[in-house]
Amino acid sequence: MALRTIREMGDPILEKKCRPITEMTDKIKTLIDDMFETMYEADGVGLAGPQVGVLKRICVIDTREEGEKVCLINPVVIETSGEQTGEEGCLSVPGRCGQVTRPDHVVVRALNENMEEVEVVGDMLFARALLHEIDHLDGVLYVTKVEGDLKYVSDEEELPEGE
Ligand code: NI
Repeated sequence: MALRTIREMGDPILEKKCRPITEMTDKIKTLIDDMFETMYEADGVGLAGPQVGVLKRICVIDTREEGEKVCLINPVVIETSGEQTGEEGCLSVPGRCGQVTRPDHVVVRALNENMEEVEVVGDMLFARALLHEIDHLDGVLYVTKVEGDLKYVSDEEELPEGE
């Protein structure tokens, strides 16, 4: 496993639409391991392909709650409901956060790391993380959805978990 470099806002790769993954390869298995390692090292709750320079529809999420650690390939949102407004951050936008309103319940259909079809149900933070990561796969950063100003967060203040 190896740490990958996290691309930051301003890098055009973060605004590109990603391509689906059609088969599991050794290269993608390594990518998955590296994405988890890179996410944990950065203390984030999610990481998407383009954030490590790979334009493929893949993301990893771990909210540190039971059942909320996933690797999703070609994820599609099939249902949303409710609403939550809260501070959001992103590993590609370090030191900043902003208020974003999203559904508070989501159902996502995807393939797992074994290319098996799975349905993942997320509420609250997990729902936010799922939607945030899937946005990355379409080249959308949360900063485009922030209500009001994107805030700068000093080291002393607590940052919302990056995704
Ligand atoms: Ni992000």
